[in-house]
Amino acid sequence: MSTYDSAFGYVSAHGAPLVDLLDPQPGEKIIDLGCGTGSFTADIAERGAEVLGIDGAPEMVAQASALNPGLSFTIGDAHDFTISEPFDAVASNAALHWMTRDPDAVIAHVHAALRPGGRFVGELGGAGNCAELIAAMQTAWRVFGLGEPELPWYFPTPAEYAARLEDGGFTIRLLEHADRPSRMTECPDGAADWVRIYAPSTLADVPPEMVDPLLARVNELAAPALRRESGWVADYVRLRFAAIRKPNSSTTLP
Ligand SMILES: C[S@@+](CC[C@H](N)C(=O)[O-])C[C@H]1O[C@@H](n2cnc3c(N)ncnc32)[C@H](O)[C@@H]1O
Repeated sequence: MSTYDSAFGYVSAHGAPLVDLLDPQPGEKIIDLGCGTGSFTADIAERGAEVLGIDGAPEMVAQASALNPGLSFTIGDAHDFTISEPFDAVASNAALHWMTRDPDAVIAHVHAALRPGGRFVGELGGAGNCAELIAAMQTAWRVFGLGEPELPWYFPTPAEYAARLEDGGFTIRLLEHADRPSRMTECPDGAADWVRIYAPSTLADVPPEMVDPLLARVNELAAPALRRESGWVADYVRLRFAAIRKPNSSTTLP
């Protein structure tokens, strides 16, 4: 029927850039949901699409605007954003797993933002993501007599996310759940740095003098699985999907 069909058909999802799966066309109106500092937004714009980056964090939107002059960014919560006219596609990279309050509300707002037949393309952490890192955290917290760390993410199974998309008025064209071991170049002190960077909320209630020894223990526990001679590797697992808003589905916003 359309270029989108052929794009979804031939792009090998695993490892290919997400923008290739999205396949933006010149002139299309596309939202980048959870855009952060806007690097994925810029990739979409490079293909000639008219793109709007939305992010819940004002400091991210400020940085994105400064780094990408000429592109449009706005502050908005993915659970509750509204758009004045329908878009051709919504894309999201590495952001949906941070939107933990109500995943169905996010999907409902994406649906409402799309024209019938519009596409929703995304990649997020899937079930099992960072399992070794998380297990090391949980053990270290226990060893130090702390309660279970409250993790700030939502890592769905493929079946669970597929059901949410289908119940939310989408037809799934591609869904992939794959290991993506990734070098932790941004974390010279390994798992300890990873906790500080990606899960700082879990440290909020830890007594300050306990933080360093606690994270040293996380490193000891995670090292056998994740530390290689060449450096630390995170045990990422990604869920990647491409879906179409059903032409005759209606939107019920929560
Ligand atoms: C890991 S960053 C990914 C940024 C970007 N998509 C990229 O690929 O580099 C996750 C982003 O999701 C945003 N985010 C988290 N929860 C959100 C929400 N409920 N609504 C909108 N943005 C949200 C965060 O502020 C952050 O900028």
